[in-house]
Amino acid sequence: MKNIQLTSIAALLIFGSISLLTNCKKDTVLPYKYEADVLNLPDQPFKYRDQQLPSHMSHLQVVLQNKVTDHGATLGRVLFYDPKLSLNNKTACASCHLQEKGFADASRFSIGFDGGLTKRNASSITNPADMRTFFWDAREDNLKEMVLQPIKNHVEMGMDNFDALEKKLGLLDYYKPLFQNAFGDETITRDRIAEAMSQFLNSMVSANSPFDTAIPGSWGVQNPGSLTEEEQRGLNLFFGQAQCGVCHNPSAGQGFFNETFADIGLDKNPADKGLGANTPGMDGMFKIPSLRNIALTAPYMHDGRFATLEEVVDHYSENIEASANLHWTLKDFNGQPVRMGLAEADKKALVTFLKAMTDQQYINDQKFADPFK
Ligand code: HEC
Ligand code: HEC
Repeated sequence: MKNIQLTSIAALLIFGSISLLTNCKKDTVLPYKYEADVLNLPDQPFKYRDQQLPSHMSHLQVVLQNKVTDHGATLGRVLFYDPKLSLNNKTACASCHLQEKGFADASRFSIGFDGGLTKRNASSITNPADMRTFFWDAREDNLKEMVLQPIKNHVEMGMDNFDALEKKLGLLDYYKPLFQNAFGDETITRDRIAEAMSQFLNSMVSANSPFDTAIPGSWGVQNPGSLTEEEQRGLNLFFGQAQCGVCHNPSAGQGFFNETFADIGLDKNPADKGLGANTPGMDGMFKIPSLRNIALTAPYMHDGRFATLEEVVDHYSENIEASANLHWTLKDFNGQPVRMGLAEADKKALVTFLKAMTDQQYINDQKFADPFK
């Protein structure tokens, strides 16, 4: 008897949810599962604006002071981790940008909300406040405009109707105090979503790697002894013979990127044209990425073709192709690709130095972590 009762209750429940689902289908807002008290946030917001930065990163204080508020970045953090921003509530920004991976993805291509694969390898996110362009083809130069793109991208999050997005978030009670605190009232607009998310991204500063400890002043003022002998040897190669520092230029706040782009001869005839897709004559050119936390962000390059840093170094040492726009540092006097032929010990030292760019504090920092946990 008890069993029969239970079965009929279960049947009622199932029937109930089906009719709920069909009801919601009529609306443009997709059904979502509301979970109360889902957020794990501190009573007082974390300090996103007043962060302790070493002197060689102090230029970022200006960005933090001018562009970031603690409540704005808190809201941005929640948005970054919330799968409700995707069409079917499955995919958050953080699904492809994982904190423990330096906010990159471990897969060569990332899986979007509907199971589709991204065309490129997910970029790491480290010090976007220090960047002038975004995406592998440098197609965006405004962070606030950039953050809305993954939301509407038909592979990544598929939420291309921002009216529906505003409405959907408006039905989630936990957003009310967050918008109130960040903007003074509960109104949800796409502009506020973009503003809060860009505040959070601007606050994502990594400045505590062994490399940062070794070079407290501007580049060239080293702190001998804080790097191991092998790291130091790798550093000398990086800025010397191997010429990595010409492109991965730390002078802009030791960011290990510079604002420009280059063709590094990955392919003679690149399948992905990079900047060339939008600008004729620039085939094979890609944004010069940041190398901060690079040991965590494998696989490497715009298409994730290299699984390890050793493979990356092998590329620069002996495998550069004679591509049309090959950068001058990677050509010899005859215009042919350089063949550095680095000794094994040098390759090893370079990789060891790249690993000294890992910032454990950044990848364990609660203020950048998942607030739904
Ligand atoms: C399905 C996976 C996926 C999701 C979801 C996703 N991204 Fe990305 N992200 C990528 C890929 C792939 C790239 C590189 C795309 C390109 O260059 O064409 C990227 C690039 C970026 C970059 C550029 C970094 C740089 O150095 O140029 C930023 C910033 C970024 N994403 C932030 C976000 C934000 C914010 C969200 C959520 C609103 C988000 N992403 C959602 C996969 C994803
Ligand atoms: C001519 C400029 C240039 C030089 C010199 C250069 N790089 Fe790069 N590097 C780039 C560009 C551009 C990319 C992205 C290429 C792509 O994905 O198509 C890149 C990518 C990388 C990546 C992968 C980053 C990621 O997020 O996937 C690593 C690691 C790297 N370089 C290390 C080095 C090292 C080590 C050296 C020196 C041996 C070096 N680079 C020299 C421009 C350069």
